[in-house]
Amino acid sequence: MAKRIEDLTVTSNRRLSADLYVIELLSPATLPELRPGQFIQVRVDGSRETFLRRPVSIHDVDIQDNTLKILIQVVGRGTERLSLLRPGDSLNIIYPLGNSFSLPLPGDRVLLTGGGCGVAPLLFLGKYLKSENHYFEILLGFRNSQRIIELDEYSSLGKVHLTTEDGSQGEKGFLTTHSVLKNEKFDRVYCCGPEPMMKAVAGYCKKNNITCEVSLENLMACGIGVCLCCIVDTVRGNLCTCTDGPVFNIKELKW
Ligand SMILES: Cc1cc2nc3c(=O)[nH]c(=O)nc-3n(C[C@H](O)[C@H](O)[C@H](O)COP(=O)(O)OP(=O)(O)OC[C@H]3O[C@@H](n4cnc5c(N)ncnc54)[C@H](O)[C@@H]3O)c2cc1C
Ligand code: FES
Repeated sequence: MAKRIEDLTVTSNRRLSADLYVIELLSPATLPELRPGQFIQVRVDGSRETFLRRPVSIHDVDIQDNTLKILIQVVGRGTERLSLLRPGDSLNIIYPLGNSFSLPLPGDRVLLTGGGCGVAPLLFLGKYLKSENHYFEILLGFRNSQRIIELDEYSSLGKVHLTTEDGSQGEKGFLTTHSVLKNEKFDRVYCCGPEPMMKAVAGYCKKNNITCEVSLENLMACGIGVCLCCIVDTVRGNLCTCTDGPVFNIKELKW
């Protein structure tokens, strides 16, 4: 798929919680075909420390309006600068990058699961699956009720199961301790979030013989398969997370 380098215009930047922002970007041209799981490389202007582009998942897409959304968690200088973007500002991006989630088989019982900022690619995936008439449920995990984001958006797509680590909303505990995993049988799980969480979900899926795809967030520099800094060890040898991923079937990963 051809890559584009483009200046997009910020149309809104909404703070969702202490460190999470959802930014809407308008393309000057018709958006290219975008698939759930793909990401963009964002240029962070105005800072010497952030000369490398930052990889960010495509959170949502509106083909009619020619807009896409990104969900940003502030963890360092680059993401902090992105959080300060205002309507009318310009953001230079390279896209679409990476592979995408594969589609479920007809009749598959599907679970979308993620925690914290890791929910970013799941909204686009959920909307896509819904448009293709696939049934799915959603299991989301957050540290506490103050950190829960976009629950209405996810609830409009399917049945949502919720965990918080302190039990302030939903079941107390981690994603992998939620009762839905004991009480229901899923055929396919899509997962994004911190690596320990994805490894725990992968362990559950392996044990229960469930097809599982995870979206990796390895550190990246070029984002186009040149610098080899995003290598992941797989049964097919070393692969680039940026071009062979970021989505991998857990069968491929040496976890
Ligand atoms: C495919 C992909 C999709 C991503 N999608 C999103 C997204 O939708 N929203 C979002 O907010 N972030 C996402 N990330 C992570 C994001 O790219 C990093 O958080 C960002 O590059 C950090 O830049 P910074 O300048 O703010 O922080 P830096 O100053 O570069 O780093 C600050 C701290 O964060 C750590 N860090 C940096 N990158 C990562 C990473 N990839 N994983 C774990 N720790 C990291 C550093 O080690 C350091 O401790 C994604 C990463 C990948 C590879
Ligand atoms: S980030 Fe450079 S090869 Fe993947």
